[in-house]
Amino acid sequence: MDLPIGARGQLCVSAICLLGLFFILYVLYVRFLGPLAQIPGPFAASVSRLWMVQHSDKGDLHRVMLNLHEKHGKLVRVGPKEVSVADLAAIKAIYGAGTKFRKSDWYSVWQGRRKFDLFAERDEGIHGTQRRLVNNIYSMTSLKEFEPGVEKILESFMQCMSRHGSDAVINLGKWLQLFAFDVIGQITFSKTFGFLENGTDSGAFSQIENALRSAAWVGQVPWLYWIHDYLTPIIGSHLAITARHGKLRQIAAGEVTSRKGINGEQHDILAKLYDVQTKKEQQMSDDDILSMAASNVFAGSDTTAISLRSIIYYLLKNPRCLSKLMDEIDDRQKQGKLSDPVKLDEADEMPYLQACMYEALRLHPAVGMSLPRVVPKEGIVINGCFLPGGTTVGVNPWVVHRDQSVFGEDVETFRPERWLVGDNGNMKRFFFAFGGGARVCIGKNISWMEMSKMIPTFFNRFEVAFTNPDAVWKETCWWFVKQEGLLVKVCPRK
Ligand code: HEM
Repeated sequence: MDLPIGARGQLCVSAICLLGLFFILYVLYVRFLGPLAQIPGPFAASVSRLWMVQHSDKGDLHRVMLNLHEKHGKLVRVGPKEVSVADLAAIKAIYGAGTKFRKSDWYSVWQGRRKFDLFAERDEGIHGTQRRLVNNIYSMTSLKEFEPGVEKILESFMQCMSRHGSDAVINLGKWLQLFAFDVIGQITFSKTFGFLENGTDSGAFSQIENALRSAAWVGQVPWLYWIHDYLTPIIGSHLAITARHGKLRQIAAGEVTSRKGINGEQHDILAKLYDVQTKKEQQMSDDDILSMAASNVFAGSDTTAISLRSIIYYLLKNPRCLSKLMDEIDDRQKQGKLSDPVKLDEADEMPYLQACMYEALRLHPAVGMSLPRVVPKEGIVINGCFLPGGTTVGVNPWVVHRDQSVFGEDVETFRPERWLVGDNGNMKRFFFAFGGGARVCIGKNISWMEMSKMIPTFFNRFEVAFTNPDAVWKETCWWFVKQEGLLVKVCPRK
């Protein structure tokens, strides 16, 4: 039936008014009447995911969440169905062993269609089976086998530093990143990426950074990722996360293929993955091995580089602490208890070094967004508020690491001594740089070894100074909180 033009116009206006009314009712409901109405937070965040999308893309969530928790307390509403949690009692319930809180769909954009992805798997049953398959590869026993490989790369790094004249301005942040990637290459495939040798990453880092940025925001609206995924054959790919591990995955694929069937004498992760495949036939395909190898590179390089930067930055900013560390290094050397490069066992016996590492990772944990989980159907009461099943909750390492009831009043101060006095058990319990519970970082022993060896060896060989001691670096949080501006001069230590 043909309607006159005036009537059609009126219909349009009525439809728009109706939509507007629905929108206003929706906003009023989710903000003031829905189950999370009593939880404070930015208005925009409580009614739409756009607030999270915007901050995830801008890269400031680590600082924004600190400010919001300072203002609102233990619970902050960051989405229509999402709450950021800073309640210590809730951490165990959310992340502890046997928890029913599964990873949220934010992780689905990382996993895409891959079957074996320890980091992103959201089914705890599948994750448990997969993790049991590979757990031993990352055990303390394996560490000993990986140590010589780390030393080889450490030596290359020291040579790179020696090549710079004492007046040269060095972008140490970049060199630490080149180092961390080459170490992971060595540990995983017994081969480096050649980054230290060439002094460049040939564009690999910017690919990874783009993927991180893209995943950080699109993960907030995962349905968009999946629509894009279905339409990709028609519209092409427009999200950097689809390239995931970029060039490095291609390098990993080359190594995985070339070692197939000729698993020799190498003491590396790839050899151990092939061993698992041989022993547990059917349970690990070639694709799974590639996924595991590629995610090692992705999960273990930037994180370690960020942590190394933090340790060095805070030591240089706090000459009192650096001088105490140097005393420890010199004492050990005089007692004949310090090799060059420093051995893992020796570093384990250096309490001040260990305290400096904990303290730097406390102040600047590599992950700056909350680790999101989904409340199981029965719901949970946190800080007196009932959160229904299906709500997304997450703890941000930056927030929990500044909890004064655990770490003391001077949480913004770099003070390694806090780890050395009395009972620091509570601080270790709430040390969240590597996540927690069943999903705790599988590579934490590897990265701890790397850092424990690198820091004392570097400071023992070189005097390191900021080019501008007052400069403050720039932080950007796209899941990992990367720093820019660690500019130093180095000269051999007299
Ligand atoms: C200082 C260095 C590192 C930091 C700060 C770090 C941090 C983390 C964090 C916070 C998680 C938990 C993520 C979540 O719950 O969403 C995690 C998981 C993971 N990390 Fe690390 N990581 C580091 C080094 C490494 C290394 C060296 C490797 C591999 C060799 C690695 C591989 C993984 C994997 C595979 C997972 C997923 C574990 C699972 O869910 O079972 N990480 N890491």
